[in-house]
Amino acid sequence: MKKYRLILLGPPGAGKGTVAKKIAEKYQIPQISTGDIFREAAKSGSELGSRVKRIMESGELVPDDLTISLVKERLGKKDTERGFILDGFPRTIIQADSLSEITSIDAVINFNIPREEIIRRLSGRRICSQCGAIYHVTDFPPKVEGICDICGGKLYQRDDDKIESIEKRLNVYEKQTLPLIEYYRTKGILYDIDSSVNPDYSMEQIGKILS
Ligand code: AP5
Repeated sequence: MKKYRLILLGPPGAGKGTVAKKIAEKYQIPQISTGDIFREAAKSGSELGSRVKRIMESGELVPDDLTISLVKERLGKKDTERGFILDGFPRTIIQADSLSEITSIDAVINFNIPREEIIRRLSGRRICSQCGAIYHVTDFPPKVEGICDICGGKLYQRDDDKIESIEKRLNVYEKQTLPLIEYYRTKGILYDIDSSVNPDYSMEQIGKILS
């Protein structure tokens, strides 16, 4: 049976989370989002959770050792046997080197999008507090303002979607994550997509890559 061990690489707001949910449904493999794992930890109110919350709000990256150990544990679960979608991991060369010791990767999908569009998307993003569905106030609005179409949960704006955090996250991406494009290109497993159009177009391009 074909395996889909995928990495979604790209700047904040490129559409990784939106598309990861669609791939997970279509190919029946789990989405592993380090951002979601950290947001859950931040909600717990533990000492570690509070530390993670402060780091995320500042737009910096959570330390590599903690991030790697969480992903390693998650990839050890049975539901990853047919594959997985790593959404937001790896983000540094150290994370990528560690990942290569844990598992093989079949494809790295690199999301391309202009900076102005990123800022527009992130400042309009809203997320369901219960099921995590992703909306946009103008592009993908819910039927009833502030309420999730799927589960009726309340929508919220992420603390790091304020303009100062967005700028910081983009700078961190350029400095620490961008080098991963060449890292995976030289391994021959990097595939570029244009993610500036709409999620269906992103899925169409990914479908061709995976077939
Ligand atoms: P994380 O949650 O991973 O955030 P991110 O990488 O900054 O990505 P986003 O979730 O902001 O964007 P996305 O590409 O998923 O876009 P989305 O689909 O939502 O990380 C948050 C923080 O956690 C980090 O800053 C760091 O502190 C920490 N962290 C996480 N991983 C880490 C790691 N590996 N190491 C260390 N620290 C880590 O879409 C955005 C908006 O656009 C939505 O409103 C959506 O509706 C809309 N949209 C989506 N696609 C389209 C489209 N094609 N056309 C039009 N609109 C679209």
